[in-house]
Amino acid sequence: MAAMIAASWLRAGVETQVHVGNLAWRLASVDLAKPYDDIGLWSNSDGRVVAIALVYESYPIDLLIDPDLDDVAELLNAMLDWTEARWRAAVAAGRPAGPFRVGCFDTDGLRGAVLRRRGYAPGGRGYIRFGREAHAADAQAKLPDGLRARAIDRAADVERMVDLHNTIFDSPVLSVDDFRRVIGAPWYRSELGLIAEDGSGEVVAFALGWIDPVGGVIEFEPVGCLFAWRRRGITRALLHEIIGRAASQGATMATVTARSDNTGTIEFYRATGFESRVSESEFTRSFDPADAV
Ligand SMILES: CC(C)(COP(=O)(O)OP(=O)(O)OC[C@H]1O[C@@H](n2cnc3c(N)ncnc32)[C@H](O)[C@@H]1OP(=O)(O)O)[C@@H](O)C(=O)NCCC(=O)NCCS
Repeated sequence: MAAMIAASWLRAGVETQVHVGNLAWRLASVDLAKPYDDIGLWSNSDGRVVAIALVYESYPIDLLIDPDLDDVAELLNAMLDWTEARWRAAVAAGRPAGPFRVGCFDTDGLRGAVLRRRGYAPGGRGYIRFGREAHAADAQAKLPDGLRARAIDRAADVERMVDLHNTIFDSPVLSVDDFRRVIGAPWYRSELGLIAEDGSGEVVAFALGWIDPVGGVIEFEPVGCLFAWRRRGITRALLHEIIGRAASQGATMATVTARSDNTGTIEFYRATGFESRVSESEFTRSFDPADAV
């Protein structure tokens, strides 16, 4: 899966819905006891994965398709047939009923048309994918006096990272096990996951950078600062440090995705040198729970 996503970045760049970085977060929410329930894979005749469908508890659906494939309408319909059948089985087994949310880049007219034909309507959440160049010199940014940046310790910091994450973000609520799985991803690089801490050891901000060495792209997921410590340039300095480190490892571009209604965060990314590259809207469709079998 990671190989297909990395190859897609090489071909389609920011118009690839999932980066290997947020793949780690997405897989953390899949039930590993039966991943086949929530991950659909389609292969070509050589056995290479060319499409991935990921279904999550609350039914956002990711449909990732190799950008080299032509005429993907039939494949998209097959993937939606699979995810909708998955929904029926999951609801019958006691999961809450939908609605389905499927992401679609505003530039992807074909996907929009297929979704509309199947009864999905735009108007769900909107997202903006930002990008900027990555340069080794970015690492020269300095944190405010009294703070230092260091790598997240995979053993000692897990619980405090989870507390920090759940203080900053309302949802989804992160568990210690989920976070262990996220930073246990084989492509996690500890030198790109940084925290800022003060002289007493209080962790005040964090940013996890994920490098895709094939496409040369670093993605941030997630990024956060405690409320009382905001607007001091802490998180911008952390991002610059990570971008600089990633550039030294071959990254040429940095990317991040933000909710399009999150104006403060969007301003933050612009002030950190990012520009809007592509926007994505969720199409939604509700199903009648009585259809679950
Ligand atoms: C977005 C966030 C990480 C910014 O952290 P921060 O440490 O306060 O950001 P910085 O101090 O480094 O900001 C640098 C610049 O970005 C801009 N900026 C940051 N936050 C802003 C806001 N809320 N509104 C407008 N501009 C903002 C400013 O230009 C700021 O410089 P200035 O303070 O000199 O004007 C923080 O507000 C946060 O944790 N928000 C909630 C979680 C979140 O949305 N995370 C991102 C999605 S994964």
